[in-house]
Amino acid sequence: MNDNEDIPGLPARAAALDLLGTALSRRAGLDEGLNHPAMAALAPRDRAFARALVMATLRHLGPIDAALQAKIRKPPPERIVNVLRLGAAQLLVLKTPPHAAVGATVDLAAAQKGGQAFKGLVNAVLRGFTREPVALDDPALFAPQWLAARWAAAFGADEARAVAALIAAEPATDLTLQDPADAAELAPELEAEVLPAGSLRVGLKGEVSAWPGFDAGRWWVQDASAAVPARLLNIQRGETAVDLCAAPGGKTLQLAAAGGKVVAVDRSAGRIKRVSENLARTGLGAEVIVADAAEWRDSRTFDGVLLDAPCSATGTFRRHPDVLWVASPADIPKLAQVQAKLLDSAARRVKPGGRLVYCVCSLEPEEGEGQVAAFLARTPGFALDPIAPGEGGAPEASLREDGTLRILPHHRVGGTDGFYVARLRRT
Ligand SMILES: C[S@@+](CC[C@H](N)C(=O)[O-])C[C@H]1O[C@@H](n2cnc3c(N)ncnc32)[C@H](O)[C@@H]1O
Repeated sequence: MNDNEDIPGLPARAAALDLLGTALSRRAGLDEGLNHPAMAALAPRDRAFARALVMATLRHLGPIDAALQAKIRKPPPERIVNVLRLGAAQLLVLKTPPHAAVGATVDLAAAQKGGQAFKGLVNAVLRGFTREPVALDDPALFAPQWLAARWAAAFGADEARAVAALIAAEPATDLTLQDPADAAELAPELEAEVLPAGSLRVGLKGEVSAWPGFDAGRWWVQDASAAVPARLLNIQRGETAVDLCAAPGGKTLQLAAAGGKVVAVDRSAGRIKRVSENLARTGLGAEVIVADAAEWRDSRTFDGVLLDAPCSATGTFRRHPDVLWVASPADIPKLAQVQAKLLDSAARRVKPGGRLVYCVCSLEPEEGEGQVAAFLARTPGFALDPIAPGEGGAPEASLREDGTLRILPHHRVGGTDGFYVARLRRT
């Protein structure tokens, strides 16, 4: 413990340092780190602190790094840079009392291999921030430069700025109800706002599994925009549907709740367990299959096919701020190739007259607009089935002229996940 009883001690800070290192080292590192046994082994208060500190650091990483670069001539090893990032986030974002934040961060540096040599640097840099606090509120620094430039090229400078402005914001929690008629009863209990098409934006805080209706499976956590694509498939009771990249299963649950006979496919045996767990909790039914959707040998065709393809996930930065810092320009063409293969496989599984919804939680046009344009150019027998204004609860600002959706995070008050969604029909 350090000298301030309100401030978690070295184990919490060491866990935060490991978590930050994992989050910045690889795709999905943040989730991997959060689910690591080392996190589960912490006392609940320390775990909550480590998580909050790392999220605050990642949400402000651009401005924090700019502030550190202004103070450091020769960058120390990466682990010490991460110690400094955590220290800066405590001082400048979480507003931890300076004496505690500086002292504890110097101790954390000292506890690293070779870290004794950097105690002076850490102390000097952080003391500098206590003397002249740095504002971390310049949205021009929020996103990596290459992504900000891409967004400006794709959506225009004003829209790109509005997107980036949300990077530092904490997201609300949205729920999808199994039975939309439950909104009248559950919204007040959950202190929730009812959004268009029935998603709830919850005001309650704390452990989700303790909220009213969780145990009974009456709802699941799903961003309001993530709930749009499955609604657009318009599955009617008794129709068949396949969700080709299904885990953890939010969209599968929607299709099953709509009364569809649903097949849920995902390549990851680990992740698909979450689909089965979610089905069990909600009492909904679906056939769950572990397979690569591009290679899946199954001759069935379906009324509705949903492809929520693997992507750069840049639209999910509010809950996964790590995506901004681990993505690289080279990832995007590679992912686009995978998506094209999956889209061709999805198309083969659509009944004549059936619907195909393609979506990605990416803000990058190559994974969205470009992907669908290329698919239509190479695939006879498919046409866009234009989405109507407001259909499925999509924000009006997101509807494009061709009837596809480009949902940007600022299209909903309070923010939302970014998505591209297209509905196609087999003619
Ligand atoms: C964007 S997530 C899907 C989220 C999910 N639809 C939901 O709403 O909960 C993408 C999923 O695609 C899966 N995936 C990636 N490549 C795949 C492939 N070739 N075949 C099947 N699933 C794949 C991943 O395991 C991951 O679970």
